[in-house]
Amino acid sequence: MSRGRIVLWLSLTLRSARSICRARFMEGQPQGPPDPAAMENGTEHRGEEFPPEAQETTVTEGAAKIVFPSANEVFYNPVQEFNRDLTCAVITEFARIQLGAKGIQIKVPGEKDLQKVVVDLSEQEEDKAEVKEGAPGDQPGTAAVGDICEEGLRVLEGLAASGLRSIRFAREVPGLRSVVANDASARAVDLMRRNVQLNDVAHLVQPSQADARMLMYQHQKASERFDVIDLDPYGSPAPFLDAAVQAVSEGGLLCVTCTDMAVLAGNSGETCYSKYGAMALKSRACHEMALRIVLHSLDLRANCYQRFVVPLLSISADFYVRVFVRVFTGQAKVKASASKQALVFQCVGCGAFHLQRLGKASGAAGGRVKFSAACGPPVAPECEHCGQRHQLGGPMWAEPLHDLDFVGQVLEAVSANPGRFHTAERIRGVLSVITEELPDVPLYYTLDQLSSTIHCSTPSLLQLRSALLHAGFRVSLSHACKNAVKTDAPSSALWDIMRCWEKQCPVKRERLSETSPAFRILSVEPRLQANFTIRDDANPSSRQRGLKRFQANPEANWGPRPRARPGGKAAGEEAMEERRRLLQNKRKEPPEDPAQRAARLKTFPCKRFKEGTCQRGDQCCYSHSSQTPKATAEATPTDCPEAPSQNPLGPGAASGLGID
Ligand SMILES: C[S@@+](CC[C@H](N)C(=O)[O-])C[C@H]1O[C@@H](n2cnc3c(N)ncnc32)[C@H](O)[C@@H]1O
Ligand SMILES: *[C@@H]1O[C@H](CO)[C@@H](O)[C@H](O)[C@H]1NC(C)=O
Ligand SMILES: *[C@@H]1O[C@H](CO)[C@@H](O)[C@H](O)[C@H]1NC(C)=O
Ligand SMILES: [Zn+2]
Repeated sequence: MSRGRIVLWLSLTLRSARSICRARFMEGQPQGPPDPAAMENGTEHRGEEFPPEAQETTVTEGAAKIVFPSANEVFYNPVQEFNRDLTCAVITEFARIQLGAKGIQIKVPGEKDLQKVVVDLSEQEEDKAEVKEGAPGDQPGTAAVGDICEEGLRVLEGLAASGLRSIRFAREVPGLRSVVANDASARAVDLMRRNVQLNDVAHLVQPSQADARMLMYQHQKASERFDVIDLDPYGSPAPFLDAAVQAVSEGGLLCVTCTDMAVLAGNSGETCYSKYGAMALKSRACHEMALRIVLHSLDLRANCYQRFVVPLLSISADFYVRVFVRVFTGQAKVKASASKQALVFQCVGCGAFHLQRLGKASGAAGGRVKFSAACGPPVAPECEHCGQRHQLGGPMWAEPLHDLDFVGQVLEAVSANPGRFHTAERIRGVLSVITEELPDVPLYYTLDQLSSTIHCSTPSLLQLRSALLHAGFRVSLSHACKNAVKTDAPSSALWDIMRCWEKQCPVKRERLSETSPAFRILSVEPRLQANFTIRDDANPSSRQRGLKRFQANPEANWGPRPRARPGGKAAGEEAMEERRRLLQNKRKEPPEDPAQRAARLKTFPCKRFKEGTCQRGDQCCYSHSSQTPKATAEATPTDCPEAPSQNPLGPGAASGLGID
């Protein structure tokens, strides 16, 4: 009985979900109500609906060749090539691990087959021995790209549009059993079918037309789950997460893109709460906070079903964030989830932040873990540095964002095989910075935030990093922000270092209001003596090696694409284009700020120093290092909104760029 009811419920929901999709899909139809017969048929898209000027275009990306109607450019967003390349790289390493455990070796195009070379030395004897010994299939197999691997990964791309991503998986990632390329739009699925034929991957890629949620709910049973689920929606993936955390296999991989960065970066905290169950803050660390909010949401959704997530790689790039997590089951381990999340208290005056975990996990007798409520708050009502109030953000994921062993494996594979991906150089740069990030220190300050709060000149990144190291703290960059200062130093030590910096080039006190954060911070004597002498270890290796770490805006009209509409340009798409143009103006590189200027000057060797006559020592604005650091034209992709400030002389008005 109850089963009958469930089936009925499913089919009703399926029907209503479908009709919603249809309704959405029809919105942009040029004229008249949709033909009900065609809707019933599921073939509302017919050739004659294309406007006459609609011509098809072919795009090649990776090993895939995709046809799409050019009037509907929204099916293909070239800026996402990095996202797709990276995903192929990640799934390849995931396959290497998963299949390796079953004794299957994957064959990656362009990779030298080391094991085979070794085996070949004594080939004939061994081959014979193996043939004699076991039944076929016993011997360690290999899995090549484009072949069905019976023991391989079952992949679902929930929102596949033209099928490009799925086709690339089939043609570039070895060790796959099947790829379901699903989209709710009949038009997209038509296109996908053609592209699957065109690329000769019909044996691996099955086009599917369904609401992605319904499809995933139909694959909840352990035996029917997917090993990899990729979700790449327009905007927020929030509506798909509940289904996704249930449809992914034990230890399986969930890959999720979010392009709703304005929401995640704190432009409307309440909207972020409704989608992700967390308040976003306007903060200089907004990109990392966005990643942590998405991870919080994923873990919480998984927790409902006694599951939890383990992040492999979390990336902020261009106008989106992308997380790769594994999902595991375990009632006992789920108990630890509360203690992995934290609220953030952020001072509105000076930006100092403190984390408050939601729960406490402590070791108890017998190696068992005891869970209890956390104690707080970590801050007084007024900021200890500047006397202003705190805003409350989160909860967000407060554990590491990446599995560094895994990231190292992807990095090594891509570095050793750079011809495999068009964006290999960027993947290498970004992953290198990620391996340098302090794994146990959530969020960061930015160089310009620190100096603009107290209205002083900006130390170079190397000087500030050196001062932190001299004082015994750890410091790193973040891949999510070019000027990030990620450190385990408490905010009191950071402000002490900035106080020492200000002494070298004092700020006129009479220009500061007595209630301003700058005045309050500068009226206290530093307790530590900062040393700004540049240390060798202050220069991150990724920077020394001149890797392509931070990408400038990749192309004109870059950004997320609006929804696809049948028959070409979306109603309102022109408005979107206008908006994109506006956004780009906002996102344009700010006039060079003092920090950038100082950093740039530091890339030129000091002539006097070379001649041995420079009197300025460390304070010289030109480089005294023997090897000249490479000048880089790096740009932050999207700038974080500035934290609100009560300061009448508002910090760095020029550098306050909003996302939306
Ligand atoms: C951003 S596109 C996907 C792009 C694709 N992953 C790629 O890399 O080329 C989003 C797609 O989601 C589809 N979509 C929207 N809502 C959906 C739903 N509920 N179920 C399935 N597909 C949906 C849209 O039709 C659209 O084709
Ligand atoms: C319904 O689908 C069939 C087969 O695809 C097609 O021949 C027929 O013309 C369609 N009917 C309508 C009303 O679109
Ligand atoms: C700063 O550090 C340098 C290099 O370690 C050292 O030589 C110098 O004495 C230090 N300066 C102060 C004031 O401690
Ligand atoms: Zn403060």
